Amino acid sequence: MNPFVDEIVQRAATAMALPEDAVRSLVSVPPDESLGDYAIPCFILAKERKQNPAAIAGDVAGEISKGINCSDTGGGASCIGEVRAVGPYVNFMLDHVRFIAHVLDEISSEGVNYGSRDQGQGKTLVIDFSSPNLAKPFSIAHLRSTAIGNAIYRVHKFAGWHCVGINYLGDYGANFGQLLAAYRLWGDGEAVRANPVPELLALYVRFNEEAKDNPELTEQARACLRALAEGDEEMVRLWRYFIDEGTKEAERIYGILDVQFDEFLGESYFAEKLDEVVDLFEGAGLAEESEGALIVRLDEDMPPCMLRTSNNTSTYHSRDIAALLHRHQQYDFDKMVYVTDMRQSLHFRQVFKAIELLGLEWSSRCEHAPFGMMSFKGAAIATRKGNVIFLEEVLDKAVQVTTDIIAEKNPNLEERDLIADQVGISAVIFADVNYRRTRDISFDLDEVLNFDGETGPYLQYTHARFCSILRKHGAPADTDADSSCLGEVAEMKVARQLAEFPVSVERACEENEPSHIASYLIDLATVANRFYNELPVLVAEDDELTAARVRLVDGVGQVLRSGMSLLGMKAPQEM
Ligand code: ARG
Repeated sequence: MNPFVDEIVQRAATAMALPEDAVRSLVSVPPDESLGDYAIPCFILAKERKQNPAAIAGDVAGEISKGINCSDTGGGASCIGEVRAVGPYVNFMLDHVRFIAHVLDEISSEGVNYGSRDQGQGKTLVIDFSSPNLAKPFSIAHLRSTAIGNAIYRVHKFAGWHCVGINYLGDYGANFGQLLAAYRLWGDGEAVRANPVPELLALYVRFNEEAKDNPELTEQARACLRALAEGDEEMVRLWRYFIDEGTKEAERIYGILDVQFDEFLGESYFAEKLDEVVDLFEGAGLAEESEGALIVRLDEDMPPCMLRTSNNTSTYHSRDIAALLHRHQQYDFDKMVYVTDMRQSLHFRQVFKAIELLGLEWSSRCEHAPFGMMSFKGAAIATRKGNVIFLEEVLDKAVQVTTDIIAEKNPNLEERDLIADQVGISAVIFADVNYRRTRDISFDLDEVLNFDGETGPYLQYTHARFCSILRKHGAPADTDADSSCLGEVAEMKVARQLAEFPVSVERACEENEPSHIASYLIDLATVANRFYNELPVLVAEDDELTAARVRLVDGVGQVLRSGMSLLGMKAPQEM
């Protein structure tokens, strides 16, 4: 929190005889700025004391006013200009001049680090994200984990955490059994080599179609997987080929999205560790045989977790348990986050519970950050059924549409292609992190690229607009310029929003929720545009006012840039 809110909280806590934390959670921003900059409602206190909330607000406001007028807070006079009761609320009007000066000074002194409080210093985050299943093409469904995971990674890094990004490649498991069986039955080696991604998808889809009426096929898929686990030469050779092609495709897409990972150990690596996992659970007396398989019983409210199938192969659970043990040993993390869709929530609860049953207290540091489903023009995306939407196609389309928009809006723009790339790709990324993770989203390219909506291009456009003010100003903002001439409502709103940036970073980090930053940035862009539409910057009454407003403009640009970078977006200077 900023020192202004701190002072409000301290004084109100004393006057209300409530703990500071309780008061802090009540602080809000009044809808009408003429009422005040911050407000505290008195309903809770009124209920406790069985009194009228307006009467209490009056008493509290009077009490705080007395304190402000006769005291000195030690570090200088009070930051609060005025306190007033308005109905059941105690409203605070800040000393605007001091507030704005404080925010601008913080931004100038902290520069690109403004917004980070270094809370993560000394702590390690391990994050498992993207982790595509390489038996299927990289579809738009994989984008969610990639974009959300990358943003969570970047936000933590900004907040001072040491971060390890892991791509737990889906290079093993039932899907590969199916693909191997399908290839053996119907594969045309030449066609596949010429066009691997669509040909392998076609095989995969056909297999799932035909397996519906033919259980024999499922049996064949199991047999292929077993042969693979036993090191059968042909199966291993084919499998290697499939994962090489899948990896190549995934890497191309990470290049387009500019996403990096620190570790790529996939499921197949941990399939080999099955015996170690089994030993551990057997040693702890936690494993039991059930219909030929080996299981671990968990909580009453959870089905047991299978470690080994009756075919003697590892399971998604046992591979994840092996990977988790490895990660803890390797990185000694303070927080381990898994980013997948919500359908895997039970899976992760089971994995964490199994670790807890082994007596490993660090199981409590593991979190699942689930996200909702993405539908594309209303149709859910399921590779198995074949109505797959390739992520690359969506990205290409986004860039192409952006190119057309730019050609119309700004035909003389230099580096048009580069900027169209940056805008198109960032728009798709923003669409993914803009809503609460758990919400289902429907992806509509026109909406995503609308320059006037709550979109990536809107943020980038605002940023470019503020960069262009600075360009026209012809010199960098003077960080020594006196800001005491600022204090208009529109200026104050921008300053107050700038002051909230560290808060949104902190919340995004704590909740693994990049959407806090996305909505923060939309609000910032909105108040910043309003400020620029209402008040002249370069042709202000005098140079002093221009210099002060330029600092505000510079602060907006800086924070928009930082925030977009946290979300994995690009911030072109012009567009
Ligand atoms: N490969 C899985 C999928 O595509 C996601 C893996 C998530 N990470 C994990 N450790 N299980 O659904």
